[in-house]
Amino acid sequence: MRFQDKVVVVTGAAGGIGLAAVRRFASEGARIVAVDLEGSDLDVALSEAEPFGVDAIAVTADCSEGADVARYVEGCVAEFGRLDVLFNNAGIEGRIIGLLDYPEEDFDRVISVNLRGVWLGMKYSAPAMIANGGGAIVNTASTAGLMGARGLSAYVASKHGVLGLTKSAALELVPQGVRVNAVCPSPIETRMMRSLEEGFGGDQAEMIRKDLAARNPMGRYGEPDEVAALVAFLASEDASYINGGVYTIDGGSVSGR
Ligand SMILES: NC(=O)c1ccc[n+]([C@@H]2O[C@H](COP(=O)([O-])OP(=O)(O)OC[C@H]3O[C@@H](n4cnc5c(N)ncnc54)[C@H](O)[C@@H]3O)[C@@H](O)[C@H]2O)c1
Repeated sequence: MRFQDKVVVVTGAAGGIGLAAVRRFASEGARIVAVDLEGSDLDVALSEAEPFGVDAIAVTADCSEGADVARYVEGCVAEFGRLDVLFNNAGIEGRIIGLLDYPEEDFDRVISVNLRGVWLGMKYSAPAMIANGGGAIVNTASTAGLMGARGLSAYVASKHGVLGLTKSAALELVPQGVRVNAVCPSPIETRMMRSLEEGFGGDQAEMIRKDLAARNPMGRYGEPDEVAALVAFLASEDASYINGGVYTIDGGSVSGR
């Protein structure tokens, strides 16, 4: 029960990793603010928290819009009186197109959600944490934040950027009691991978999936719950000396071939 009396905001809470994080934090006693886009199924996020008897609210927000981000932080503090942890996790994969042909508006959208959104999350949530003596932020990057990938230049650039933001924020915010770390998952079993498999493989999506899994040293994708376990550790007091860290959760895939 590492999050008893704590309040945790999860963005992208209606997606695969977000839902697992809601479940994990709620199972450890956290009160939850589940944030996702208008039209996403946030009821399913609330239903993940319900069995654990914790309070949970849903807020629809576009994480790339400052006013929306300010609103979810205000909503959190208005409802629960504090904000202890931000899991800054909302993200989009963008389109799979070579960088010479990548449409400008698609590039901008990926950067806006994945990079600007992470910055905005920190910008608006950290003051609420500081007002209460401190907190922890975990940003979702990717193994695509550590190496290139053909056809995914915007996504790769955004996730490299998340690591830069994480390191800078860790330096700026820790004197005020806020630790900031990043996680770098390799392919995880969520909608995003189904979309990428289809984007790369078309009607051969299943073959792409098998190939990607086989290339991982553990021979499989990761599970959202496995990511959530790392995120909960980094957000908890167990990680009290961990700041500015970049944590792969990838079965060993970035270690080499
Ligand atoms: N699945 C993977 O293989 C994988 C690997 C590495 C990193 N990631 C990262 O993990 C995070 C979660 O992805 P996932 O795999 O759960 O995918 P997902 O598509 O299941 O979930 C992403 C969620 O983010 C929400 N979202 C998108 N844009 C938003 C916005 N502007 N404002 C608010 N919410 C928004 C979506 O509605 C969705 O619910 C993303 O940042 C992704 O880049 C995923």
